[in-house]
Amino acid sequence: MAHSRSPAAYPNSNRIMKLFLCLLFLAAVQAAIVPAVNPIAHFHPSVLNAAKPRGRNVTINGVLTYVSLPKKKFDKTTAVLLLTDVFGLPSPDNLLLADEWAAAGFQTFVPDYLNGDAIPMDGDFTTWLPNHGEAQTTPPLLAVIKALKKRGIKKIAATGYCFGGLYVTRLVQNNTITVGTMAHPSLLNVPTDFDLMKEISHIPVEINNAELDTGFTPAVAAQTDGVMANGQYTPGYLRRQFDGVAHGFAVRANASDPVQVAAKQGAFDTSLAWIKSHLE
Ligand SMILES: *[C@@H]1O[C@H](CO)[C@@H](O)[C@H](O)[C@H]1NC(C)=O
Ligand SMILES: *[C@@H]1O[C@H](CO)[C@@H](O)[C@H](O)[C@H]1NC(C)=O
Ligand SMILES: *[C@@H]1O[C@H](CO)[C@@H](O)[C@H](O)[C@H]1NC(C)=O
Repeated sequence: MAHSRSPAAYPNSNRIMKLFLCLLFLAAVQAAIVPAVNPIAHFHPSVLNAAKPRGRNVTINGVLTYVSLPKKKFDKTTAVLLLTDVFGLPSPDNLLLADEWAAAGFQTFVPDYLNGDAIPMDGDFTTWLPNHGEAQTTPPLLAVIKALKKRGIKKIAATGYCFGGLYVTRLVQNNTITVGTMAHPSLLNVPTDFDLMKEISHIPVEINNAELDTGFTPAVAAQTDGVMANGQYTPGYLRRQFDGVAHGFAVRANASDPVQVAAKQGAFDTSLAWIKSHLE
């Protein structure tokens, strides 16, 4: 770069400003948005799951919400908030996953934060995504959380999958929930979102990632550990990688593939243990 004036001619504050902008630029280069993985890449269509969702659709504070309750007596002051992938409530896999959380003893709420516009299996992701940014997704999410708190629910454990990982991240950053878990998150800014988490949050967080994920790759996971692991994130951090599986593995598995079945169960068990240990 050619300068028309010698650097000495710049006032000191100007030089500091240039250094600052340079650092900012370097930070921007290093931070990368975890891409949203195309729906087609995380759909494993083979599982013909005979199970029917057990819960009900209700409207909570104006937002369609799938609610699944435990069969046995449960603690009415805690709840699991399940934040789905882009397939939303129309995907039985998401509802059956909510039923699993209910079977584990938690009243479970799945808000339709996709505003009745979950992507169809053959949908065009690139035109869908701009209509489902934080501006559109956050208001219904917060409307449901507000209503749950008003009902006397004091502790919310949020569990987010793919697209839902971004919103668990926001709820952790904003200290809105008691504990968070996510699986194969997308759309995060790594490491920036975790730097921010470390700076402002006191909420423990757990991540399940897939070895074969093309979005939240093992390299991105390692970058996340660089900010969070080894006691750096004092509220609590755990990451577990599942080998031989791809994006979406914690939501749907091919029932004939033991590796996928075990990984899905392992992710659930890991998130459940994390949530239980941080709700007590
Ligand atoms: C499901 O897994 C079985 C066993 O590995 C495999 O033969 C089958 O092709 C898989 N189905 C799909 C749709 O991936
Ligand atoms: C809940 O609503 C979703 C989205 O409209 C629908 O696909 C699903 O079948 C409904 N589930 C139940 C149990 O009514
Ligand atoms: C978190 O807080 C930020 C900053 O106030 C806000 O813009 C965002 O909508 C919040 N998101 C959620 C999910 O609470």
